[in-house]
Amino acid sequence: MSNEPQATTEYTWKGRTGPFTVSLTPGVFKPTSTSVALAEAMEIHEGDVVVDVGCGSGVLAFVAARLRAAMSYGCDLSSEAVKTAGENARRLGISAVTEFRVGNLLEPVRDIRADVIIGDVSGIPDPIALATGWFPDGKGGGPTGAELPVAMLEGVQSCLKPGGRLYLPTGTIQDESTVLETARRLFGTENVKKLIERQFPLPGSILESDKVARLISDGLVDLKRRGSRLLWRLAVWSCRQA
Ligand SMILES: C[S@@+](CC[C@H](N)C(=O)[O-])C[C@H]1O[C@@H](n2cnc3c(N)ncnc32)[C@H](O)[C@@H]1O
Repeated sequence: MSNEPQATTEYTWKGRTGPFTVSLTPGVFKPTSTSVALAEAMEIHEGDVVVDVGCGSGVLAFVAARLRAAMSYGCDLSSEAVKTAGENARRLGISAVTEFRVGNLLEPVRDIRADVIIGDVSGIPDPIALATGWFPDGKGGGPTGAELPVAMLEGVQSCLKPGGRLYLPTGTIQDESTVLETARRLFGTENVKKLIERQFPLPGSILESDKVARLISDGLVDLKRRGSRLLWRLAVWSCRQA
């Protein structure tokens, strides 16, 4: 990240525990309907220790803190996101119960045993990330959108207390079956439960990308057409550690 001052914008979170306002710099992910759905689905008990992996601006860590988590740790590969999240926490007056760390997946929180992990790392295929412009760096979760969530799943259990919960978003916009097969193999099928499902539109223009069209024709992503728009389905899962 350069030391040049970054243009900031204000974003008002109107999801669970909102409204509250956070600042975003150009390289920091702007919360989406997935963030809102995850916040609604997650169960946070007073005193929980929470890890928000792929924290971006920190919004989900802030929701957990506002639901009286004892401590919310956010981590992100982007040092710009981590710096911004820390500044947002100070503005919101919740620095004492939040902490943000830079690094790959769960590496920055290997010393933490959490009651809850919010596993919202980038999970859409790189060609869709590029075509939608959702990600400031243009990168998604790998060629099929499953690669990064699967890598996160492989390392998540050593950071969870027994009985702890991982909240995991999946969607028909990625190779969802690979993500879910991994979650069921690691946590046990009986411990992986769907909490909510939502449908969202995508601009039909993303089909102009040959790579996106190929992901659809290969059956890796499953989008339904409605007029000029495409619909994808989001699901939020709870994965409970035995
Ligand atoms: C879909 S965004 C979610 C951001 C935030 N949770 C929200 O709801 O606004 C995914 C985040 O994962 C981060 N990310 C991407 N690759 C990562 C990695 N290998 N390790 C940790 N975070 C990563 C991105 O920088 C981005 O902030």
